Amino acid sequence: MAKRAEKSTPCQDHAIGRFITFEGGEGSGKSTQIQMLADHLKSQGIETLVTREPGGSPGAEIVRHLLLSGVGKLLGADAETLLFAAARDDHVHQVIRPALDKGTWVLCDRFTDSTAAYQGAAGKVDPAFIQALTHATIGRLEPDLTFILDVPVAVGLQRAIKRRGRTAADRFEGESLAFHESLREAYRRIAADNPARCVVIDANAEPAKVAERIREALQSRLPAPSSVGAGA
Ligand code: TYD
Repeated sequence: MAKRAEKSTPCQDHAIGRFITFEGGEGSGKSTQIQMLADHLKSQGIETLVTREPGGSPGAEIVRHLLLSGVGKLLGADAETLLFAAARDDHVHQVIRPALDKGTWVLCDRFTDSTAAYQGAAGKVDPAFIQALTHATIGRLEPDLTFILDVPVAVGLQRAIKRRGRTAADRFEGESLAFHESLREAYRRIAADNPARCVVIDANAEPAKVAERIREALQSRLPAPSSVGAGA
């Protein structure tokens, strides 16, 4: 019951902790960039937590295993979407909200925009169904800022192939080129529809250059209050 009340609280109520998400297609370089930004924030004395979806909490990591193994696909697109929502519910309540409540900045590799892009736009799951699920699980929690890392599909897939070596493609990496193109398009649309929250970053460059673009965007969108390092 306490959980329900908590769910209706917007993220902005967390006076100090900031919630920043990283989004993008396969091989867009999110993991590298999220770590680089975390190092930067920590060097400024900001308490920072890096987490990811699907997963990020013990329960959600179990669901992640199911999802990436492709089991969710066998259940059908709607049920697979339910699994992503179940994982997110646990992650938000066990990890993200408690961290934000303490004033920690949370950097999350993928969040609700991934569901909108992968299951909704590219996977053709009804957006109203996704919205209802989001509402029922995490309420009005929204990132303060979302970086959408944009790379041409061919570049991203090439990077993903290089990264995994001989391991087989996972559930989504193995989707068609058309699926990945529609993902890229979906992310651009999400950014256009949410200009106050989203920044598209050209990620087709050296990691150091992309990191610089991200830090500049962060500085202009979400300057760190000087008191943040005090953890008050
Ligand atoms: P992961 O190995 O973490 O991939 P990446 O490095 O690209 O983030 O696998 C997560 C996969 O799950 C990724 O292909 C995107 C997909 N996904 C969804 O389809 N919907 C979601 O809501 C989330 C969070 C992820």
